[in-house]
Amino acid sequence: MMGDPGVGAGTTRTAGETKLERVAVLGAGVMGHGIAQAAAMSGSETRLFDPDPGALDGAGERVRANLRKGLELGKVSQAQMDAALDRLSPAPDLATAVRGATMVIEAAPERLAIKRALFADCVRHASPGTVLASNTSSIPIGLLQEGMPHPGAMVGMHFFNPVHLMRLAEIVRGPATAEETVDRARAAAQAMGKTVIVVNDAPGFASSRLGVALGLEAIRMVEEGVASPEDIDTAMSVGYRHPMGPLRLTDLVGLDVRLDIARSLSAGLESSRFEPPALLVRMVDEGKLGKKTGEGFYKW
Ligand SMILES: NC(=O)c1ccc[n+]([C@@H]2O[C@H](COP(=O)([O-])OP(=O)(O)OC[C@H]3O[C@@H](n4cnc5c(N)ncnc54)[C@H](O)[C@@H]3O)[C@@H](O)[C@H]2O)c1
Repeated sequence: MMGDPGVGAGTTRTAGETKLERVAVLGAGVMGHGIAQAAAMSGSETRLFDPDPGALDGAGERVRANLRKGLELGKVSQAQMDAALDRLSPAPDLATAVRGATMVIEAAPERLAIKRALFADCVRHASPGTVLASNTSSIPIGLLQEGMPHPGAMVGMHFFNPVHLMRLAEIVRGPATAEETVDRARAAAQAMGKTVIVVNDAPGFASSRLGVALGLEAIRMVEEGVASPEDIDTAMSVGYRHPMGPLRLTDLVGLDVRLDIARSLSAGLESSRFEPPALLVRMVDEGKLGKKTGEGFYKW
């Protein structure tokens, strides 16, 4: 992550038929580092920004570790790894990250106010044709588009955790999203090797709404003493052939992230189905956020 990616200089390069975007990823946490890695691997010059310098350093380490693992497993060549690391660089501030980018992918915390403020800041540094994508799991793109000068350039690009392994990208068409923006988001995600679905704007889109419904019900079952987390997860992984049970998945996603999504879905869908269970709220209060803090429904 040391090389200068040249974002802001020259024109967008092409690889075969695909136009490569110059990407700025905002937020270098669980999702942001993975999106930046996928973008750099796809050939895009990529800048990564986070207001927390520790998060930015950590992201560099995680990307290197992911790529080293890929190398060990024979999934990534040394040349691909070196090229991806060359294309990826940390940005010291938002303006440096966004200036010259043709696509911004926001992966900041799941709070409407944070994302709105961030996009408003982006617009001051980005060129009008820049795609402004959000990796939000649940916030309607229409809410992010409100009051923005170029709402047609805004779109949802919802990746899955861990980004370098998960194949799905859910592209969300907001009420004001231009079809060209959908096409560019689709092409960029496909260049990252993702299977793309395009969905219309609704809280939780197609994936989070269903996934979170299962996760919250599993938490309520732990709360009611129906079964242990291990047994609930085994019910789904063995009985339903899910690759992983809903509680283990909640630990990987982060309980705080799940809580934010539940609150946003509960408000957006005006439904008590998504009201966060008291156990989830308590565990987040206690700092049991899942894998990232060493404890959630499991010890990590
Ligand atoms: N964790 C998941 O499994 C998952 C999956 C899909 C989508 N998402 C979505 O991705 C987004 C990020 O989630 P995450 O799990 O990576 O969270 P995270 O807490 O791991 O990372 C968020 C990062 O954003 C940074 N940040 C805070 N304010 C910022 C700002 N103003 N500008 C730029 N960065 C800022 C934080 O310092 C932090 O490093 C959320 O919208 C979440 O809903 C998460």
